[in-house]
Amino acid sequence: MINIALPKGRLGEKVYALLAQAGYPCPELLEDNRKLTFENPEAGVRYFWVKPSDVAVYVERGATDLGIAGKDILLEYRPDVYELLDLQMGRCRMCVAGPADFVDDHAQTLRVATKFPNIAATYYSERSREIELIHLNGSIELAPILGLSDVIVDIVETGKTLKENGLSVHAEIVPISARLIANKAAFKFKSSEIRALTARAAEAVAERSK
Ligand code: PRP
Repeated sequence: MINIALPKGRLGEKVYALLAQAGYPCPELLEDNRKLTFENPEAGVRYFWVKPSDVAVYVERGATDLGIAGKDILLEYRPDVYELLDLQMGRCRMCVAGPADFVDDHAQTLRVATKFPNIAATYYSERSREIELIHLNGSIELAPILGLSDVIVDIVETGKTLKENGLSVHAEIVPISARLIANKAAFKFKSSEIRALTARAAEAVAERSK
């Protein structure tokens, strides 16, 4: 059996559809209930609904063999896992954003609000820009509006949240998408099963991009 942590929510449902197409279905998973664990012995798979930002924790510690995590989470927390495949879903961009008229004149320490302090710190340290990090957990766009920060480092998907709050993208840091990740020990002990699943998922990804 391969144990897979799926990110709860819309992305997780899309990822599940891809894995079902790849030969790992478990229809019970889409039933409307509060269950978090599902199993299909014929397909040799067990799925678990996990909070998206926790997937890497489950996989790194071996609670599940595989998981699907956003590249943002992998860059932020740098879990000790293997990244096996870009699923090319959940695409978005990690960006610096702020009021359209804000120009960083380097006169003062730049105040940066974010859910991703490591990504932000790395980005600015590579540019030798001194910053003050303000770690928030959500609604990051509010920070520059209320004068809590000069800019934000956050995920931009459609750009709607920025637009509706009068903010714009100042720089793109990195493109983001969902990745299939594996626990390192599981990758050794369940090598053939995990390699087979990865290959079949890669075929399904290629099929979808046609
Ligand atoms: C994310 C992100 C932006 C928004 C971007 O927030 O932090 O706020 O989505 O999406 P858009 O470009 O399509 O508008 P999320 O929905 O995760 O909520 P949060 O405020 O709780 O972080």
